[in-house]
Amino acid sequence: MFEALKPLPEDKILALMQKFREDPRETKIDLGVGVYKNASGVTPVMRAVKAAEKRIWEEETTKSYTGLAGEPAFLDAMISLVLGDAVARDTVAAAASPGGTGAVHHGFQMARLAKPDVRVFVSDPTWPNHLSILKFMGVETVPYRYFDSATGEVNFDGMIEDLGQAKTGDVILLHGCCHNPTGANLTLDQWQTVVETLLKTGAVPMIDIAYQGFGDGLEEDAAATRLVVSSVPETIVAASCSKNFGIYRERTGVLMAISHDTSKTAVNQQTLAFLNRQNFSFPPDHGARLVSTILGDAELRADWMAELEEVRLGMLGLREQLAGELARLSNSDRFAFLARHRGMFSRLGTSPEMVEKLRADHGIYMVGDSRMNIAGLNSQTVPILARAIIDAGI
Ligand code: LMR
Repeated sequence: MFEALKPLPEDKILALMQKFREDPRETKIDLGVGVYKNASGVTPVMRAVKAAEKRIWEEETTKSYTGLAGEPAFLDAMISLVLGDAVARDTVAAAASPGGTGAVHHGFQMARLAKPDVRVFVSDPTWPNHLSILKFMGVETVPYRYFDSATGEVNFDGMIEDLGQAKTGDVILLHGCCHNPTGANLTLDQWQTVVETLLKTGAVPMIDIAYQGFGDGLEEDAAATRLVVSSVPETIVAASCSKNFGIYRERTGVLMAISHDTSKTAVNQQTLAFLNRQNFSFPPDHGARLVSTILGDAELRADWMAELEEVRLGMLGLREQLAGELARLSNSDRFAFLARHRGMFSRLGTSPEMVEKLRADHGIYMVGDSRMNIAGLNSQTVPILARAIIDAGI
């Protein structure tokens, strides 16, 4: 039967990661996959994670199964981290998932279970794997305008006009903060307009929040998600712990289904647990246990927050340095958007040919749509990148 299998298109981000590994040039710069790196190019294990791991190793007495929806302490901690007190706890159903991607996948599955012909509105552009998963599932996608490459900002009027075309029961996929791949985000006022559009159309928001703490701060980055869940009757939220806890390979995420009608919460909870059981049975536990240990301990939590803040400020500093360097070399402010963007990524707004030229001539690796991982830079490589961008004529 395997002869029927055909080669699949490669995942562009992961293929780039491999190409970078194979490039022998010592001067190469990796601005590809969305993994945080410190100034020495290392993705560190966070201090609080190490301490929690030690504690778990000492105290854990069994590896028997946890709850089908995951450990309740983890779910409560994540609901509180993401949603704060925006909604009452009894409006929220939640299940642990293998990473934020697992939560995204389950979110789509939940929507399709509720509405087999569901359409999902996606920002143009969005994280390529959103599109790939939806295509794999056979779910129809409808793009909405989002990024304006001329300004490097959000095309907000276009976005709202397109979202206004949604119908009751459509799902609108939104990035809670730190838009991937563009780095361009809405203001809270603009989010309010999104909420009004959602209420007008009856479409259901699904928020993917994978970078909380990487933009303007832990609370600030959750503000839009909290506004939406408190204003709209039903919301799906997929959250990741990969980036803000730096536990990428532990695959730790959570899917939440919020319904203001609390009589729906039990069925929502049952549905999420059912989806876990059908897809992989029990969710991974180690990463979730690290997160609940850290968030449940005042000292570890404070240390984690402090380290996360260092990471965030480091990326902001690199953004400012890059925008400043480009302003100087180009004698213009056309790259000023790089300092205004938030999160790990910025879309430079150049052609795939230019991206390829940067790779071939300078060993600078960014995704073909000109998405750069800002955390792949350090203060020494920023001037090299800026010079290469200007020399390439971008
Ligand atoms: C990214 O966008 O680079 C990250 O979310 C990693 C991934 O899985 O693509």
